[in-house]
Amino acid sequence: MKNILESRFLQEFCLTADNMYRLGWDERNGGNISLLLNDDEVKEYLDPRSVKRVIPLMGVHAVDFDITPLIGKCFLVTGTGKYFKNVRREPEINLGVVRVGEGGKSLDLLWGFEDGGRPTSEFPAHMMSHIARLSVDPENRVVMHCHPTYTLAMNFVHELDEKSFTKDLWRMCTECVVVFPDGVAVLPWMLCGTTEIGKATAEKMKESRLVVWAMHGIYGAGRNLDETFGLIETVEKAAQIYMLTFDKKPVNTITDQAMKQLADLFGVKVKDGYLD
Ligand code: 13P
Ligand code: ZN
Repeated sequence: MKNILESRFLQEFCLTADNMYRLGWDERNGGNISLLLNDDEVKEYLDPRSVKRVIPLMGVHAVDFDITPLIGKCFLVTGTGKYFKNVRREPEINLGVVRVGEGGKSLDLLWGFEDGGRPTSEFPAHMMSHIARLSVDPENRVVMHCHPTYTLAMNFVHELDEKSFTKDLWRMCTECVVVFPDGVAVLPWMLCGTTEIGKATAEKMKESRLVVWAMHGIYGAGRNLDETFGLIETVEKAAQIYMLTFDKKPVNTITDQAMKQLADLFGVKVKDGYLD
């Protein structure tokens, strides 16, 4: 059995968490990541019969949604209350590999959470988002949540209408419309850690890989860690430019016509009804 600490997926996961921390997206224990592992990947590094601990899904982790599509699937996931700044230094404490148990009411811990920890309190939102994304893109593997500074700042000064929010972000950098043509969905402020916010996030995720949680942060989904990180990074860059310019009477803009040309050139399908 190979050493999981040397696996590419774990190393990339740690590097991603490190970058997120470095960029100020994950203060204290803010943010969480889950990565769907494929069975072969798991078998190379872990014995699927060796369950370290069974973690019940209860309390804020209660599963009162249909988790059936994920039964038997393994995830590398950040722990609740764990600091992103520590992930790379002590992955075996701050991260865990969990398999959704047969009855769908518990998780089998295969590796990690060595101090008795458990997955993020946002586990329901992550699982529901995985199910939603997999239903529209079978190659989706990653769900990522964080608190990027400028995206959050923009929530306080911009209306929370998702079309105008998306278009103002698209207008901030030429390549935004190409990177996230499916736009940014926006949820009003809701209580985090609950099934309600998970369901609302997952519903939005069917149409958009990015969902803003107003006055809280953002969710992103993608086929790999880089793609998902890049989506949030691009939104955050655009939000930064928005915050640097919106109250300074900008005199230039990127027009809908220009964005249509970009979408045609790069062959991406822009969200219906968003460009005039
Ligand atoms: P966890 O520490 O449970 O992952 O929560 C962090 C967070 O960002 C909640 O929204
Ligand atoms: Zn959060």
